[in-house]
Amino acid sequence: MTNTTFREILVTSALPYANGSIHLGHMLEYIQTDIWVRFQRHIGNTCHYVCADDAHGTAIMLRAEQEGITPEQLIANVQAEHEKDFSNFSVSFDNFYSTHSPENREFSEYIYNACEAKGHIASRTITQAFDPEKQLFLADRFIKGTCPKCKTEDQYGDNCENCGATYSPADLINPKSAISGATPVQKDSTHLFFKLPDFEALLKDWTRSGSLQSEIANKLAEWLDSGLQEWDISRDAPYFGFEIPGQEDKFFYVWLDAPIGYMASFKNLCDRTAELDFDHYWQKNSSTELYHFIGKDIINFHGLFWPAMLSAAEFRTPTAVYAHGFLTVNGQKMSKSRGTFIKAGTYLRHLNPEYLRYYFAAKLNNKVDDLDLNLEDFVQRVNSDLVGKVVNIASRSAGFISKKFEGQLSAVISEPELLQAFSDQQQVIAEYYENREFGKAIKSIMALADQANQYIADKEPWVLAKQEGNEQQVQDICSTGLNMFRMLMIYLKPVLPTMCDDASKFLNDELSWQGLNTPLIGHGIEKFKPLMTRIEGLQIESMLDDSKVEVAKELALKAKLS
Ligand code: MSP
Ligand code: ZN
Repeated sequence: MTNTTFREILVTSALPYANGSIHLGHMLEYIQTDIWVRFQRHIGNTCHYVCADDAHGTAIMLRAEQEGITPEQLIANVQAEHEKDFSNFSVSFDNFYSTHSPENREFSEYIYNACEAKGHIASRTITQAFDPEKQLFLADRFIKGTCPKCKTEDQYGDNCENCGATYSPADLINPKSAISGATPVQKDSTHLFFKLPDFEALLKDWTRSGSLQSEIANKLAEWLDSGLQEWDISRDAPYFGFEIPGQEDKFFYVWLDAPIGYMASFKNLCDRTAELDFDHYWQKNSSTELYHFIGKDIINFHGLFWPAMLSAAEFRTPTAVYAHGFLTVNGQKMSKSRGTFIKAGTYLRHLNPEYLRYYFAAKLNNKVDDLDLNLEDFVQRVNSDLVGKVVNIASRSAGFISKKFEGQLSAVISEPELLQAFSDQQQVIAEYYENREFGKAIKSIMALADQANQYIADKEPWVLAKQEGNEQQVQDICSTGLNMFRMLMIYLKPVLPTMCDDASKFLNDELSWQGLNTPLIGHGIEKFKPLMTRIEGLQIESMLDDSKVEVAKELALKAKLS
């Protein structure tokens, strides 16, 4: 590529809640982000990738209590598990931190104080359901009762699972606290509100900046047109979070300090990295780029409150927010009873993480559409593309080079125009990656893999090798084959980092993007070892069974604790 001006980019994925395991739905997001980040680094841009656990809120407080441990212990346990899963899937965070950190407290207070000083915080009394036994205000999802419409029992505060009716918890018949079973009472409390309507003009500008997906821009425009509401940013004690400065027993709502966790994680990284400067990335009018990868369910927090809070405190706003859709498995919502609610850790016990990275890449585009993991298609696709096409090119060429030519590739390129055709695709493939059209990138790469296989099939080096006098030809064909394989691996490097590491050792080459323009000539390679094996149907079966066992274990534990 003729990319001479290098970019400085900061990327985040949404912060996973610290009250549960990472599942394959989450992985869609972290894999999508990681491929983009690895691509940016591959072509020579500076790209930092930070994340953290989202450690605050009522759910975490209650779960710790149930398990008989402190919230701090719970979030430490969960963070260790999350980090292990991410690292096993090769998610290349520069830092994975926690929102329950001194940096995050400092930034949260700073941003809040800036909002307050500028008159963007309002205070008023509201009436809410209160659990008199637990002495706790109850969010809607913590109230259960009988549906006012169809009379089904044990329905959550805001909607009925049986008839689909939506209502307010006050309409429930015989409402009970889902935590203690006590009948909720109504109680007053003073809350603090972030005056989002003050930022209407700013948000309209930001929405029209041109770098948002049209689905997001439209959604934001819809919210902006229907009028912005003030946002309740305080919660009463007891709450696991940060206390609000100047208030008594009031805590920041978890969603206030969660996105600030992006800054805190980056600050923590800067403090450990001499050449990294926090302000350079976060100051107003920064020349760097900032991207948040998120799921479609949290667009309002990232598209409204977050840019508003940042600009109130005189920080830069995000360059763009990139939302993806939700993961379904075999065409349906992930289901615990079907075993398709698959945790990252469960998957890893049965399958190579790179299979999933490849499958997601092959199906991802830059839209907010949902993505289906069809398990039959998954097996078929990985086996035929990665094993059948890509690895096959290397395995058909490498043997001759090792056995007959002492691992040496030819000293001249016999088919320069063929290799040129491969390297000519670099601009197109780079643009697909850049625009998060990973599916299109994979399609182009696999079309090249088809060409490579066709070339080897036509030349039949195994036939030539049987007769004397064809040595040069055989070496040339296999060298061309391996050079084509090398270029495919360079293109696939953001998607398949582990396989590329192995290929890199095999080829004695870095597989850098620049390498696309300099084929390997008269170059020594190592002995070939299979780079990827086929998925067997049985592995899928046992993963699903294992998932069901996991769910059963979890239910048993819950029953024991409550
Ligand atoms: N803690 C918040 C995010 C705070 S960001 C400042 C949260 N956590 S989450 O654990 O529920 O989700 C983390 C990310 O994973 C979100 O972007 C969410 O959209 C995404 N996904 C969670 N389930 C998903 C699927 N089933 N499919 C695709 N993405 C999914 O939200
Ligand atoms: Zn109902």
